[in-house]
Parts: sequence; structure tokens; C-alpha cells
Amino acid sequence: MSTGHVELARAQQERWESAYARQPRLHGTEPSAAARWAVDVFGAAGIDDVLELGAGHGRDAFFLARQGFSVHATDFSEAALDQLRQEAQREGFDDRVTAALHDVRDPLPPADATVDAVFANLLLNMAFSPSELRSLVAETRRVLAPGGRFVYAVWSTDDPCSQHWQQLDGGLSMHDGFVGRFFDDALVTELGENWRLDDATPYQEGQRRMLRVTMTKQE
Ligand SMILES: C[S@@+](CC[C@H](N)C(=O)[O-])C[C@H]1O[C@@H](n2cnc3c(N)ncnc32)[C@H](O)[C@@H]1O
Repeated sequence: MSTGHVELARAQQERWESAYARQPRLHGTEPSAAARWAVDVFGAAGIDDVLELGAGHGRDAFFLARQGFSVHATDFSEAALDQLRQEAQREGFDDRVTAALHDVRDPLPPADATVDAVFANLLLNMAFSPSELRSLVAETRRVLAPGGRFVYAVWSTDDPCSQHWQQLDGGLSMHDGFVGRFFDDALVTELGENWRLDDATPYQEGQRRMLRVTMTKQE
């Protein structure tokens, strides 16, 4: 990985940290559309426990918990997780929503095949190099038990911003200092290699064109 990419990644982490510190509940309190979808997918598969990656301050973690799931939420922003933990205590959810600081560029903490479901809304489209992205998906597959589900949602190349943002190396785009990646079907298919790709659906959320993907680790 180039020095430039390491610096870029560090700058993005600082950016998230200060965004959460400046604006508590940055993403609001309503769950994402992907979380509503995940409730149906995980519920139909008889799943109780969910690992959430890039959970932020936990709007989706609390939604999943209110639907009866136990959620272990991770993020690399301490400020976001502080807010999540405080809310978990305030709402009496601290037995059902736990949190841990984790940068998904590092291996995921769970042992092989010990997790039933992984959920990640607006994480995979963050400032990851192509190899970091592939490793993250491979790590997700490693920790999932056979039959385990992975639901993720990302920005789509159908979004007009994908044409206007400054293009960086490795397929990343930048606007106003914020760096991310727009996903197309080819990338979804590539990342779904070695998985059963159950669903890839385009949708709109707020101003953004998105893609929601559901994959299963085959038995
Ligand atoms: C767009 S926000 C989405 C937050 C949450 N999923 C939601 O929908 O409310 C992206 C989140 O990913 C986290 N993130 C970005 N890069 C990360 C990394 N390398 N490891 C862990 N979390 C990361 C950010 O701190 C931020 O909370």
C-alpha cells in the first residue's frame, strides 16, 4: 500500500472522528433502508446475533435491537462509539447492543465461522484501496458460519456525483475532502466471488443512488 494511501486513510479517520464530535447523531435516528431489509433477511434465516461494521453512532444497531436481534457494533471512531454506548445505557439496551473500536483494514476479531450475520451500511464505499476492500470481504466470509448472511449497502455509480467528483487512484473519488467509492455491478459481482450472491438491488435513499447487496457464505 502506498504512503499516500496510508495518509489518506488516516485523514479520513480524523475527519470521521471530528464529524461525530461536532455533530452527535450525525446520521439521525431513523434506521437506514438497508437495515430494514436486513431485518427481513436475517429474520427469515433464523438469525439472532449480528456483527455490524462501520456502525457509527448506532442508528441501525438500535433498530436491529428493537427488532429482537443482539448486535455487536464496531467502528473506528471512538466519538461515534461513545455516543452509541451512552445511548445503549440510556435506552436500557446495553445487554443487547455492545460496541468495540475496530478498523476494518485490520483482521476482524471473531474466530473463523463463529458469526451468523454481518451488516454494513455505507462502509464498503469508504476510502479503501481495492486490496483493502477485497480483504474486508474475505475477512467477513472467514468469520461467518456456513449459511451466514452478509448485507451491505453502498453508493452506486448511478449516482450523478460519481461523474462529478474528482477521480483518485484505485477507483476512489473525492469531494470537499471526503473520499469514497461508487460501486457498479461488476464490482459487486467481483466481491461476490466465492459467495452465493442472493440479491443486488439499486435504490434511492435521500439524494443518493445506492446498491444493496445480500450474500450468503455457502455451506
Ligand atoms: C457513512 S458512515 C455510516 C455509519 C452507519 N453505518 C450508518 O449508516 O449510520 C461510515 C462509517 O464507517 C466508519 N468507517 C470508515 N472507515 C472505517 C474503517 N476503516 N474501519 C471502521 N470503521 C470505518 C466511519 O467512522 C463511519 O462511522
